[in-house]
Amino acid sequence: MRHFLTLSDFTRDELLEMIDLAQKIKAQTKTRHFVPYLERQTLGMIFEKSSTRTRVSFETGIYQLGGMGLFLSSNDLQLGRGEPMRDTARVISRMVDMVMIRTFEHSKIEEFARYSRVPVINGLTNSFHPVQLLTDYMTMVEYGKSEAIVGYIGDGNNMAHSWLMLASIMGFELRIATPKGYECNETIVAQAQEMAKQSGAKLSFGDDPKEALDGVDVVTTDTWISMGQESEKETKVKAFEGYLVDDEMMALAKEDAIFLHCLPAYRGYEVSESIFEKYADVIFDEAENRLHTQKGIMVWLDSHR
Ligand code: CP
Ligand code: NVA
Repeated sequence: MRHFLTLSDFTRDELLEMIDLAQKIKAQTKTRHFVPYLERQTLGMIFEKSSTRTRVSFETGIYQLGGMGLFLSSNDLQLGRGEPMRDTARVISRMVDMVMIRTFEHSKIEEFARYSRVPVINGLTNSFHPVQLLTDYMTMVEYGKSEAIVGYIGDGNNMAHSWLMLASIMGFELRIATPKGYECNETIVAQAQEMAKQSGAKLSFGDDPKEALDGVDVVTTDTWISMGQESEKETKVKAFEGYLVDDEMMALAKEDAIFLHCLPAYRGYEVSESIFEKYADVIFDEAENRLHTQKGIMVWLDSHR
């Protein structure tokens, strides 16, 4: 049995298999052909943080695969009143067929997975957002950018960490610029650098956003204020001055470059209104692809147990 906790749990070929499956299922879905790959299966979906895309795409996805999603907010679960994660895991995983969790510390999802009898999927932790990044890669493939140079400017957060995992597994060039004090986690960077030796990925880090975007094929960023950091807003907004992706910044990238954003986007902070609307088609293709990619992931995990 396999869990989907970070992209580094998988080889490049395995991730490409999931994307192949996702593309096949996407084509079927587009013709309203719903194949019941996961008939009568239940996906438990535990949310300790808010969500629009993750909830809707997983719940709709499992339903279209012939199963059902069970939305479990930690406000309503005994988990929210102090029942340990490991007990929650041992109960829920005897009743459902797969679990998706969105939580805070990555160690919490690792603990759940250790005690779970069924595959566990990471729907975002403070450290990683792997379902988003596999989706972003599928979107890059669709836009002919799988061999791209990617420039990420912004916070050294869960999105930046997952970009590092993706690039170092797939073997593309990733340039990350973060303000001083908001760099990526050192252990995750070291892990990515180790993996990059195998794949040939080129990873670079700095604090000059303009340098990071010079001549890239894909420009990407994320909110400066992640869930749970609301009280840091004032300090972070000051620290991230010069990191707004606007027309001038985007002009540094290649002429045919695309802009990706996992959403939700905060106009005037990490991205300008004008850039957001200019690239709205790709951004919302990316959002829609969450539905398709995660079906690929669920079907793949089901067939590997
Ligand atoms: N991108 C993403 O995970 O969106 P939600 O927080 O709305 O799920
Ligand atoms: N970094 C953001 C991503 C939201 C999808 C957060 O963790 O809130």
